Amino acid sequence: MNYANKQHRNRNSENKVTNNLMDKLVSLCKRRGFIFQSSEIYGGLEATYDYGPLGVELKNNVKQIWWWDLVTSRADVVGMDAAIFMNPKVWEASGHVDAFHDLMVDNKKTKKRHRLDHLLEEQYRLVDVLEVQPDNILHELATDLGIKPQIGESALFSLIPKICQAISEHKGSFNLNGYGILDYTNLRNGGEAEWTKPRQFNLMLKTYYGPPEDSSSVVYLRPETAQGIFVNFANAQSTARMKLPFGIAQIGKAFRNEITTGNFLFRTREFEQMELEYFVRTEETSKWLDHWVQSRFDWYKSLGIAESKLRLRKHEKDELAHYAAECYDVEYEFPFGWSELEGIADRGTYDLDQHIKSSGKKMTWFDPESNEQITPAVVESSAGVDRTVLTILVDAYHEEEVRGEKRVVLRLHPKLAPITVAVFPLVNRDGMPEIAEKIFDDLRSHFAAFNDTGGSIGRRYRRQDEAGTPYGITVDSQTLEDQTVTVRDRDTMEQERVSKDKLTSYLSDKLR
Ligand code: GAP
Repeated sequence: MNYANKQHRNRNSENKVTNNLMDKLVSLCKRRGFIFQSSEIYGGLEATYDYGPLGVELKNNVKQIWWWDLVTSRADVVGMDAAIFMNPKVWEASGHVDAFHDLMVDNKKTKKRHRLDHLLEEQYRLVDVLEVQPDNILHELATDLGIKPQIGESALFSLIPKICQAISEHKGSFNLNGYGILDYTNLRNGGEAEWTKPRQFNLMLKTYYGPPEDSSSVVYLRPETAQGIFVNFANAQSTARMKLPFGIAQIGKAFRNEITTGNFLFRTREFEQMELEYFVRTEETSKWLDHWVQSRFDWYKSLGIAESKLRLRKHEKDELAHYAAECYDVEYEFPFGWSELEGIADRGTYDLDQHIKSSGKKMTWFDPESNEQITPAVVESSAGVDRTVLTILVDAYHEEEVRGEKRVVLRLHPKLAPITVAVFPLVNRDGMPEIAEKIFDDLRSHFAAFNDTGGSIGRRYRRQDEAGTPYGITVDSQTLEDQTVTVRDRDTMEQERVSKDKLTSYLSDKLR
């Protein structure tokens, strides 16, 4: 398995670098109907996106494969679908009201708001570009905060979470002005930065639930789907009669008022999660954590994502979420650097304990082996649907030259492709459109099929290449004579003649 070593730890890479490939991908997504800017006709809304006709199919395929692999095909996992709105006490008990925040800081001159850790990471890289020793600058900040820096680049980079932690302990009284590391963006623009004191910003979005619009009706849009599972632990366990170890899974929307968004679908304020909470005996936590880390890493490979672009990274103690005792991220090497795709965490008994304490309800499990009521520990696999879609698109995007022309192709795994097979009449005459229509009608009860009649055949091939359609069937003049059609393979562009009556079994074999 590809484990990240600390030297190459690259959290700094997740920033707003607009890279050529990302720009090309955004443009392909719009052109082909995968993803659009939300409310585009009104100028859009920052970092919100709508899935178009092809995008929704791709996204649904991801969710269906996940659901099949983690729920339907397993005897030890059941699913559920909890409401987005929950009693606000849930978020007090879970720790999200008190601990789900990031440090933010405003640049008074540019009026821009930043997440402090992202800003430090960005500056760290920038000073490199400006050929100033980044080490000295982080050193200064750390030393003043009473953190003893170690020598070496990765050790210094890992100071950033420690610096943020120390600053948050100053509870809004730490002054960042005058620290070199924070001045570089402005120095480059000929000015000096002027920073507000860093303060905590809770990431939960709030709204009012029914009248009146005051503090008594405030509810939160859930920041993770997991709590819907924890509060239903006893309901799901008893009705499905599950025995440890077992899991409860769900897919659903989550919302976070992120201070900085960006990199297309990567960090948005509304997104979808696929979460599995796997309940185990405490003494078996480490065994199951290993199991799920490996299994989730392998899942991304099974989607056809290049293994060389996937790795696992263990969280350092100071970056763990408030509920986690240990955590691994599956990371992908995006055009903007290595970044998190999913987290697999040991949440221990934290969540059930908190809800037992807060609600006073019984949420334990009777262990027939020990004859005792026990609180199970939890191993969580928490994946982002939209991040998975982004990864799939980035990984599948290829450009190549074919007969002197650029070909853009999405090499999507056939099980993910929005369209599995496209049917084309070579020309729109001589009875070819009618034969193509009949083939399309036969195929569409078995496969996601599309009948593409508009434009030159070359243009139609290119369109389907960009849509990631693995197979293209062309009805040509030879079809009129011998009832065969050509089947074109998207990746090799090779064509094979197949009897039109055998297409269903031919394609089923290929897809198997
Ligand atoms: N229940 C645990 C949990 O929510 P997390 O690491 O905060 O853990 C899990 O989130 C996954 O959700 C991330 O790995 C990512 O794929 C996705 N995710 C989190 N915040 C996101 C955001 N702002 N935009 C898009 N996806 C996000």
